[in-house]
Amino acid sequence: MAALQKSVSSSLLGALATSCILLLGLSLQGGEAVPVSSHCRLDNFQEPYITNYTFRLAKEASFEDNNTDVRLIGEKLFRGVNVRNHCYLMKQVLNFTLEEVLFPQSDRFQPYMRQVVPFLAELSNKLSLCHIRGDDRHLQRNVQQLKDTVKKLGESGEIKAISEVDLLFMALKNSCVR
Ligand SMILES: *[C@@H]1O[C@H](CO)[C@@H](O)[C@H](O)[C@H]1NC(C)=O
Ligand SMILES: *[C@@H]1O[C@H](CO)[C@@H](O)[C@H](O)[C@H]1NC(C)=O
Ligand SMILES: *[C@@H]1O[C@H](CO)[C@@H](O)[C@H](O)[C@H]1NC(C)=O
Repeated sequence: MAALQKSVSSSLLGALATSCILLLGLSLQGGEAVPVSSHCRLDNFQEPYITNYTFRLAKEASFEDNNTDVRLIGEKLFRGVNVRNHCYLMKQVLNFTLEEVLFPQSDRFQPYMRQVVPFLAELSNKLSLCHIRGDDRHLQRNVQQLKDTVKKLGESGEIKAISEVDLLFMALKNSCVR
């Protein structure tokens, strides 16, 4: 149990470090499509229990993840995408992760999955009116790369995506909560 707690908090620190790196990466953006930003926004989600469940779900999946050199939610996903569009980008990633990974795998990794999936589905629902105006080809290309990577890896791609649900959580928070 102590070991689990230790690893949970180190994965929390890891994710925080990753999000700092993500934020650092954001400074160099060009102009492009503008979001209909009033809808690209989430209220702060702080509940410690859901954070805890999300990080433990990621941890459990990471024990089964054997593609340690693949990173789905990282600097590359955001590369070249204006910071104002990050919430819309993460909306796309969340939709894909729910539809193609978490719903199909929802019997696994209990009791974490049972708590985390409805929570993320609700966030997705709250973002349903989030759209951007203008050219989003670049953004869609980044999202498509993530989808292609998961699809190409098959089952182990889905495990990889679940093992990054902590990064998904932090990226949604960084991108959509203001
Ligand atoms: C998560 O919850 C467990 C069990 O309730 C607790 O022992 C642990 O300290 C929590 N970890 C974090 C990172 O909040
Ligand atoms: C994903 O997006 C599609 C198309 O916009 C939508 O119909 C579906 O409800 C979304 N799924 C989730 C889980 O938000
Ligand atoms: C990784 O895991 C998948 C499914 O769990 C398995 O099919 C594959 O052989 C594993 N690959 C390696 C390199 O261990």
